[in-house]
Amino acid sequence: MASLQLKNIYKVYPSGVTAVSDFNLDIQDKEFIVFVGPSGCGKSTTLRMIAGLEEISDGELYIDGELKNNVAPKDRDIAMVFQNYALYPHMTVYDNMAFGLKLRKVPKAEIDERVKEAARILGIEMYLTRKPKALSGGQRQRVALGRAIVREPKVFLLDEPLSNLDAKLRAQMRTEITKIHNRLATTFIYVTHDQVEAMTMGTRIVVMKDGFMQQVDAPQALYDYPINQFVAGFIGTPQMNFFTAKLTGTKDKVYVEFGEEKLLLPKEKVDLIYSLEDYLNTDKEVTFGVRPEDLHIEEDLIAKHPEYCMPVDVDVVEMLGSETLLYGKLRKSVEEQESDNPDEIKSIVDDVSNLIAKVDSRSQVKRGDKIQMLIDMAHCHLFDKETEMTIIARDAEAKKAYLENKKEEEAKAAAAAEAGEAAPAAEAAPVQEPAPKKSFKDLFKKKAKAEKHEAEKSDEEKTEE
Ligand SMILES: Nc1ncnc2c1ncn2[C@@H]1O[C@H](COP(=O)(O)OP(=O)(O)OP(=O)(O)O)[C@@H](O)[C@H]1O
Ligand SMILES: [Mg+2]
Repeated sequence: MASLQLKNIYKVYPSGVTAVSDFNLDIQDKEFIVFVGPSGCGKSTTLRMIAGLEEISDGELYIDGELKNNVAPKDRDIAMVFQNYALYPHMTVYDNMAFGLKLRKVPKAEIDERVKEAARILGIEMYLTRKPKALSGGQRQRVALGRAIVREPKVFLLDEPLSNLDAKLRAQMRTEITKIHNRLATTFIYVTHDQVEAMTMGTRIVVMKDGFMQQVDAPQALYDYPINQFVAGFIGTPQMNFFTAKLTGTKDKVYVEFGEEKLLLPKEKVDLIYSLEDYLNTDKEVTFGVRPEDLHIEEDLIAKHPEYCMPVDVDVVEMLGSETLLYGKLRKSVEEQESDNPDEIKSIVDDVSNLIAKVDSRSQVKRGDKIQMLIDMAHCHLFDKETEMTIIARDAEAKKAYLENKKEEEAKAAAAAEAGEAAPAAEAAPVQEPAPKKSFKDLFKKKAKAEKHEAEKSDEEKTEE
């Protein structure tokens, strides 16, 4: 049982790679935190810093309120399951699992009980006398998990512990780990690439990109209210469709215009836009986001709401059994199609008319069909095209807080201007963007200063000689 605080944590590897920047997170006792993000975004590095296997370049790590930056890994009461499940090759599975307990001088009978119990949970009882090299990757991974479980640590760190398992075993182990978490009632931090694992296991998910934390939220909140386009595209499969669009119309009737489409934005959404005046009938573009599951082809819906429909040409139909994916293109008007020169080489980079829809597997749509698709506008997303941040507040309260904050900033700027200072124009960020509090330059300066100091010291030593 432990709470953790990570404050302004940075990791700069000696090679100069900044793997983690300004990582801030408060983890409550018994939470199940999941780190997700593309390969190389700093997940393992963060985990290794918590375990004490990697030095923290800057910032503070507290476990149960105590600063642990300089505490040795073995004294942190943390068990880590590695991405590459480093087992002792010369020991049997039993000994691999019992090793940590033997070091801690746990009585033999208790070790035996804990190892056998863990082996039972993980389904590896029959391999206890084998050596790791006589096991498959998935079996080894389970031994590594077992070795962590028997330790009953304060904090569990798991780095993609199920990556080598087949789909069925993976699903089974997922529920087993959730059960283990409930039973041990300890804090878990879990790294994964797997969306289903992240969404189903985590009490909160941390989405990372390029060493920066993007958003921390409960799984459903992350899906419903992605803070920026990256999170929107990362959470959910297939990924959200994005179209470059403009907002037009009047304050009471706002339309999202993209390609040749013009769809009415529901009043509830309009009311939550942080600063509509910046986008309405201006040059400022937005990115219009729609999840594949929010595109519909049911005839009754389409007949009832033609104002939310658009024409789509279906290119590919993927039948997955429980659902069907339709890959298509927004259909162009007849004039435009005629003017298209077939010999002209078109750039596919700028082609934003591609889309994916997730529909009922009983739908009869075929490749080449020209159909109407309805967009569930109540669940659409809008991002600033330039900053990629959401322009829609989560709820009325969030918008109110933003406006108050903006007013405050403006008042401050006005006061500063009056005092004769050149103050920067007030511009409140709609949502807290993870901006590094300390620049990397400062970090490097610090490092350079330390190195200079070292050099001077050794010079002094030399002179003394
Ligand atoms: N020992 C090291 N020395 C220098 N750079 C490193 C070292 N270890 C990792 N890195 C770099 O730090 C960045 C973050 O690596 P990290 O292993 O934390 O990524 P990750 O999110 O765990 O990725 P993956 O999902 O592929 O495991 C990467 O750019 C990586 O190349
Ligand atoms: Mg990793």
